[in-house]
Amino acid sequence: MELVMARNKKDDVISWLRDAHAMEAATVRNLEQLIGRAEDYPSLKAQLQKHLQVSRRQVTDVEAQLKTLGADTSMLKDLAMRFTGWIEPFLGALAPDEMPKHCLAAHGWENFEIASYRSLLGAAEELGMQDLKGLCERAIREEQEMATYLFDNLPDITRQYLRGK
Ligand SMILES: [Fe+2]
Repeated sequence: MELVMARNKKDDVISWLRDAHAMEAATVRNLEQLIGRAEDYPSLKAQLQKHLQVSRRQVTDVEAQLKTLGADTSMLKDLAMRFTGWIEPFLGALAPDEMPKHCLAAHGWENFEIASYRSLLGAAEELGMQDLKGLCERAIREEQEMATYLFDNLPDITRQYLRGK
Protein backbone atom coordinates (compact mmCIF):
# COMPACT_ATOMS: atom_id res chain seq x y z
CA MET A 1 0.00 0.00 0.00
CA GLU A 2 2.79 2.37 0.99
CA LEU A 3 4.63 1.79 -2.29
CA VAL A 4 1.51 2.34 -4.39
CA MET A 5 0.85 5.64 -2.62
CA ALA A 6 4.43 6.75 -3.16
CA ARG A 7 4.22 5.96 -6.85
CA ASN A 8 0.94 7.87 -7.20
CA LYS A 9 2.50 10.92 -5.60
CA LYS A 10 5.51 10.72 -7.90
CA ASP A 11 3.16 10.41 -10.88
CA ASP A 12 1.42 13.61 -9.77
CA VAL A 13 4.71 15.47 -9.58
CA ILE A 14 5.74 14.17 -13.01
CA SER A 15 2.41 15.29 -14.45
CA TRP A 16 2.76 18.76 -12.88
CA LEU A 17 6.31 19.04 -14.17
CA ARG A 18 5.08 18.18 -17.66
CA ASP A 19 2.54 21.01 -17.29
CA ALA A 20 5.33 23.33 -16.15
CA HIS A 21 7.38 22.31 -19.19
CA ALA A 22 4.47 23.08 -21.53
CA MET A 23 3.93 26.39 -19.74
CA GLU A 24 7.56 27.42 -20.14
CA ALA A 25 7.63 26.34 -23.79
CA ALA A 26 4.58 28.57 -24.35
CA THR A 27 6.33 31.40 -22.50
CA VAL A 28 9.32 31.12 -24.84
CA ARG A 29 7.10 31.20 -27.95
CA ASN A 30 5.11 34.17 -26.65
CA LEU A 31 8.18 36.13 -25.64
CA GLU A 32 9.74 35.59 -29.05
CA GLN A 33 6.61 36.98 -30.70
CA LEU A 34 6.30 39.90 -28.31
CA ILE A 35 9.96 40.88 -28.66
CA GLY A 36 9.34 41.17 -32.40
CA ARG A 37 6.63 43.75 -31.67
CA ALA A 38 8.54 45.73 -29.05
CA GLU A 39 10.83 47.79 -31.31
CA ASP A 40 9.32 51.06 -30.06
CA TYR A 41 9.69 50.04 -26.40
CA PRO A 42 13.45 49.57 -25.80
CA SER A 43 13.29 49.08 -22.01
CA LEU A 44 10.44 46.58 -22.30
CA LYS A 45 12.24 44.82 -25.15
CA ALA A 46 15.41 44.44 -23.05
CA GLN A 47 13.41 43.03 -20.13
CA LEU A 48 11.59 40.59 -22.41
CA GLN A 49 14.89 39.45 -23.92
CA LYS A 50 16.31 38.90 -20.44
CA HIS A 51 13.25 36.89 -19.44
CA LEU A 52 13.46 34.88 -22.68
CA GLN A 53 16.93 33.67 -21.67
CA VAL A 54 15.61 32.87 -18.18
CA SER A 55 12.61 31.00 -19.60
CA ARG A 56 14.78 28.93 -21.97
CA ARG A 57 16.87 27.89 -18.96
CA GLN A 58 13.70 27.09 -17.00
CA VAL A 59 12.61 24.75 -19.81
CA THR A 60 15.86 22.79 -19.46
CA ASP A 61 15.68 22.89 -15.62
CA VAL A 62 12.20 21.33 -15.69
CA GLU A 63 13.34 18.77 -18.26
CA ALA A 64 16.27 17.80 -16.02
CA GLN A 65 13.90 17.29 -13.08
CA LEU A 66 11.71 15.03 -15.19
CA LYS A 67 14.74 12.98 -16.21
CA THR A 68 15.87 12.73 -12.57
CA LEU A 69 12.46 11.29 -11.72
CA GLY A 70 12.83 8.77 -14.53
CA ALA A 71 9.97 10.27 -16.54
CA ASP A 72 9.64 9.68 -20.26
CA THR A 73 10.59 13.00 -21.87
CA SER A 74 10.15 11.90 -25.50
CA MET A 75 6.64 13.38 -25.71
CA LEU A 76 7.50 16.80 -24.28
CA LYS A 77 7.59 18.56 -27.64
CA ASP A 78 4.03 17.47 -28.47
CA LEU A 79 2.74 18.27 -25.00
CA ALA A 80 4.30 21.71 -25.25
CA MET A 81 1.60 22.67 -27.74
CA ARG A 82 -1.06 22.17 -25.05
CA PHE A 83 -0.69 25.78 -23.98
CA THR A 84 -1.41 27.97 -26.94
CA GLY A 85 -0.22 30.91 -24.90
CA TRP A 86 -1.36 34.39 -24.13
CA ILE A 87 -0.68 36.12 -27.41
CA GLU A 88 -3.01 34.13 -29.65
CA PRO A 89 -6.35 35.19 -28.12
CA PHE A 90 -5.37 38.78 -28.71
CA LEU A 91 -4.15 38.48 -32.27
CA GLY A 92 -7.56 38.17 -33.88
CA ALA A 93 -9.25 41.06 -32.16
CA LEU A 94 -6.47 43.59 -31.77
CA ALA A 95 -4.13 45.55 -33.95
CA PRO A 96 -0.63 44.11 -33.77
CA ASP A 97 0.68 47.23 -32.07
CA GLU A 98 -1.62 47.09 -29.04
CA MET A 99 1.27 46.72 -26.65
CA PRO A 100 -0.71 47.59 -23.50
CA LYS A 101 -3.02 44.60 -24.05
CA HIS A 102 -0.11 42.27 -24.74
CA CYS A 103 1.48 43.41 -21.48
CA LEU A 104 -1.75 42.87 -19.55
CA ALA A 105 -1.82 39.32 -20.87
CA ALA A 106 1.86 38.85 -20.08
CA HIS A 107 1.32 40.06 -16.51
CA GLY A 108 -1.54 37.60 -16.06
CA TRP A 109 0.58 34.80 -17.52
CA GLU A 110 3.52 35.53 -15.23
CA ASN A 111 1.19 35.29 -12.24
CA PHE A 112 -0.08 31.94 -13.52
CA GLU A 113 3.56 30.80 -13.67
CA ILE A 114 4.18 32.01 -10.11
CA ALA A 115 1.10 30.13 -8.88
CA SER A 116 2.24 26.97 -10.69
CA TYR A 117 5.66 27.04 -9.04
CA ARG A 118 4.13 27.88 -5.64
CA SER A 119 2.01 24.73 -5.96
CA LEU A 120 5.01 22.62 -7.08
CA LEU A 121 6.96 24.05 -4.14
CA GLY A 122 4.40 22.54 -1.77
CA ALA A 123 4.79 19.18 -3.50
CA ALA A 124 8.59 19.40 -3.26
CA GLU A 125 8.37 20.19 0.47
CA GLU A 126 5.83 17.45 1.16
CA LEU A 127 7.88 14.81 -0.66
CA GLY A 128 11.30 16.01 0.51
CA MET A 129 12.53 16.84 -3.02
CA GLN A 130 15.29 19.36 -2.37
CA ASP A 131 16.32 19.89 -6.03
CA LEU A 132 12.75 20.58 -7.06
CA LYS A 133 12.32 22.92 -4.10
CA GLY A 134 15.37 24.90 -5.25
CA LEU A 135 14.07 25.02 -8.84
CA CYS A 136 10.71 26.35 -7.65
CA GLU A 137 12.19 28.98 -5.35
CA ARG A 138 14.44 30.29 -8.11
CA ALA A 139 11.68 30.26 -10.74
CA ILE A 140 9.25 32.07 -8.41
CA ARG A 141 11.82 34.85 -7.91
CA GLU A 142 12.43 35.08 -11.66
CA GLU A 143 8.73 35.19 -12.58
CA GLN A 144 8.11 37.75 -9.85
CA GLU A 145 10.83 39.96 -11.31
CA MET A 146 9.11 39.89 -14.72
CA ALA A 147 5.64 40.39 -13.25
CA THR A 148 6.87 43.31 -11.14
CA TYR A 149 8.50 44.94 -14.17
CA LEU A 150 5.19 44.75 -16.04
CA PHE A 151 3.23 45.98 -13.02
CA ASP A 152 5.57 48.94 -12.54
CA ASN A 153 5.86 49.85 -16.23
CA LEU A 154 2.31 49.35 -17.52
CA PRO A 155 1.32 53.00 -17.01
CA ASP A 156 4.41 54.17 -18.94
CA ILE A 157 3.92 51.60 -21.68
CA THR A 158 0.32 52.74 -22.13
CA ARG A 159 1.28 56.44 -22.10
CA GLN A 160 3.92 55.76 -24.75
CA TYR A 161 1.42 53.78 -26.79
CA LEU A 162 -1.05 56.69 -26.78
CA ARG A 163 1.61 59.25 -27.65
CA GLY A 164 2.73 57.20 -30.65
CA LYS A 165 -0.76 57.20 -32.19
FE1 LIG B 1 8.88 31.00 -16.67
